Amino acid sequence: MQNNYSYYNLNDLNNDNAEKNFFISCNRKCEEVLIKELKALGFINQNPDEKAFAGVHFTGNMEDAFKIILNSRVASRVYLKLANFEIKLKKDQEKELLYQTVRQINWCEIFSAKESIKVSCILGRGLDKRLNSHYLSQIAKDAVVDTFRDNVGQRPNVNTAFPDIPIVLYFENNNVDILIDISGEPLGNRHYRQNDFAAPLRENLAASILYLSEWNYQNECFIDCMCGSGTMTIEALLMGLNIPPSFIKVKRALINDSAERLKHRWTIENLKFFKENAKFRMKFKELLKSVREQYKLNNKISIFASDISAKSLTTTKTHISFIERELSVKLANDVIFIKKADATTLKLPSLNKNQNKGIIFANPPYGKRLGAELETDYTDERDKRDNNTDDNDDQLAKLYHDLGENFKQNFKDFRAYIFTGNLELRKKISLQTSSRIELFNGDIECRLLRYNLY
Ligand SMILES: C[S@@+](CC[C@H](N)C(=O)[O-])C[C@H]1O[C@@H](n2cnc3c(N)ncnc32)[C@H](O)[C@@H]1O
Repeated sequence: MQNNYSYYNLNDLNNDNAEKNFFISCNRKCEEVLIKELKALGFINQNPDEKAFAGVHFTGNMEDAFKIILNSRVASRVYLKLANFEIKLKKDQEKELLYQTVRQINWCEIFSAKESIKVSCILGRGLDKRLNSHYLSQIAKDAVVDTFRDNVGQRPNVNTAFPDIPIVLYFENNNVDILIDISGEPLGNRHYRQNDFAAPLRENLAASILYLSEWNYQNECFIDCMCGSGTMTIEALLMGLNIPPSFIKVKRALINDSAERLKHRWTIENLKFFKENAKFRMKFKELLKSVREQYKLNNKISIFASDISAKSLTTTKTHISFIERELSVKLANDVIFIKKADATTLKLPSLNKNQNKGIIFANPPYGKRLGAELETDYTDERDKRDNNTDDNDDQLAKLYHDLGENFKQNFKDFRAYIFTGNLELRKKISLQTSSRIELFNGDIECRLLRYNLY
């Protein structure tokens, strides 16, 4: 059986200069930001048709893909598309058809039987509703394993937690895309988080928000007045100092640290072409070194982080200290200033001569109704008693209202941004909204609200 296919990258897999097809995923509604970032990084040209749901299609060579893995602040994962087949799956007839389709790929040319695999199926639009993704994954996994057994007499093991080769089948209408996730863990994992903290923003969502805020770090300060675990603050720091988001992983990779959580670095390293292509491995090492040398620690930026909760501040400080140790530099009280403060009474900090305005940002609590699971324990008991941060609706309404009033009073000429998942509470802010951007924090529909303060 031979299905029709619209592309098939396997013939050129070992040629590192040959153009291949990739899918770069991101948080929902961040597709435009990702396209803009990729354009700024020089990877894509003017207005091609790349935009998809929660990601961007991209054509380039392996080196381009690896550069994106190392440098994109917005991307979640990078997938290498192996092939796209036409396939009309129907419940109870799916087994043979899917099995034969997956067997059309010579998996032994892509990776060795020593690598562990995980096969996941994602069901998109236009499919028989009765299809079951777990069952489809099982069939596809059997097809991959049997390809090895028949060709080399050995089979790869399955590892669902940390696979060396994560294989993804994306079904839509009468087609399936067969992909390998070459980034491995989500690229949003920057590895500076040392303490657990409930309800942090994802790092790549925070970076997307920063891009959307059009922060000009050369002459604008950035104030995160409800910093929580410091995600926005740290993403601003990395952006303002031109520190690549992968810097901690890159450092580990260059010193061959075998710490457990960094062992599975980038799954691109497990592909056969990578292992057998010394030229590409050298190029890869050069790219890692160039990331290492990219820091511009002499940039004069000013970031102010504050929060009412002592626990939040301790978490932010721990993360900043970790980054200071990684980079062997002092950041606190030099480019970043952290203090305990109530955002509803916070005053304008003293600024450098060239920084007389900027951005004030807040990601306030959403409240119980929309985000109980996210919010319940963001403060410790003492903070809850001492401060005005209980999830009580009235108190939250007052918090949103007072926040807006303080922005009006103390941050004239600033741009204020509030990121919230509570679409009711935002109405308590009596400022004129100059833009509302729809975003998603996981599954929660959120808004990034902009206010121009005059
Ligand atoms: C949703 S969390 C922010 C999470 C943060 N963006 C992160 O990624 O970790 C809300 C934060 O607002 C803080 N907060 C609540 N009321 C406050 C107030 N009146 N002034 C300052 N911070 C406040 C809480 O302590 C909590 O850290």
